[in-house]
Amino acid sequence: MAIEKIILDVDTGSDDAVAIICAALSSKIELHSICTVWGNRPLSQTTENTLRVVDMLGIGESVKVYPGCETSMVSTLLQNRRGGYDGQRKSVNGGEKVSMHQETIDELPPSHTKAQEKRAVMHYVETLMNGADGEFTLVPVGPLTNIAMALRVEPRIAKKVKQIVLMGGGCRRTNSTAAAEFNIWGDPEAAQIVMNCGAKITVVPLDATHNACINSDEVEELYKLGTPAATCVADMVKHRIAAYSYLQPMARLDSAPIHDALAVCSLIDPAVLKDVRLVRCDVDISGGIADGQTIVDPRAYTDLPKNVDFAFDADRDRFSALLFSILRGEN
Ligand code: RIB
Ligand code: CA
Repeated sequence: MAIEKIILDVDTGSDDAVAIICAALSSKIELHSICTVWGNRPLSQTTENTLRVVDMLGIGESVKVYPGCETSMVSTLLQNRRGGYDGQRKSVNGGEKVSMHQETIDELPPSHTKAQEKRAVMHYVETLMNGADGEFTLVPVGPLTNIAMALRVEPRIAKKVKQIVLMGGGCRRTNSTAAAEFNIWGDPEAAQIVMNCGAKITVVPLDATHNACINSDEVEELYKLGTPAATCVADMVKHRIAAYSYLQPMARLDSAPIHDALAVCSLIDPAVLKDVRLVRCDVDISGGIADGQTIVDPRAYTDLPKNVDFAFDADRDRFSALLFSILRGEN
């Protein structure tokens, strides 16, 4: 299998942390660089969290981290459209507000590697335009602000990339609002630009990630692996299970999706995704009640051209086995 050379775009975040670890440790992926973006937390914190993971992995010399956009392209211009970061802290029946996302990765010490001076948007344009056609795969697992901005600066990058594999959206599942998934809701205009840029795109939505949950028995097995990376993954998943069991219980109560890691793992073994279909997908940018919703049209006779491969399901056991094999250094 060919090695996939990727630029990861993260808003780290506990599942982003697991995604970085999978990308860094798998022999099937060459992690070229990491761009950070606002999202789960403000950019300064998503960048610091990213650098902590990079330091834990000891890859700071070879994998550069480029800070990206501090806010969405234009969505904040519509007043009252966003709840801000606090909007992501939710409570059930008026109980304590908790975040589904890791805020600071306290399990890891403060970073010593520094982020690059160059910003992510410039990094994308320069790296992709100077690279060979089809050299890079982009893997955005946060709001799509950086890549949409880069596409506005240099639209030809759409033809330079091999593909874009993004975590975001949902057909029958949502999380941030009744209509929308967080990464798309965070910057709907950016998502609409990326989905229609003409590149080959695979969408790994909540429909897939919610069917690929890791459970607390597996967390115990992860701790037994005993490596810093496996311990970090175990810590992240444990945190997620606690938040999900309260806010968004999955079919198995002591389990949680590791959204962003599933997107990365689909590059190592595409069969972790199931029921992948070429469909028309657009994003609601109305600013109304469906703001940020991914409108998925699975009909054969779509009105507009089909633009993305959309994963409607996932193979949980296969994903779990792959995660363990990566952490054991076997994949
Ligand atoms: O909806 C899931 C996405 O939102 C993930 O990328 C997670 O990290 C959060 O940003
Ligand atoms: Ca993320």
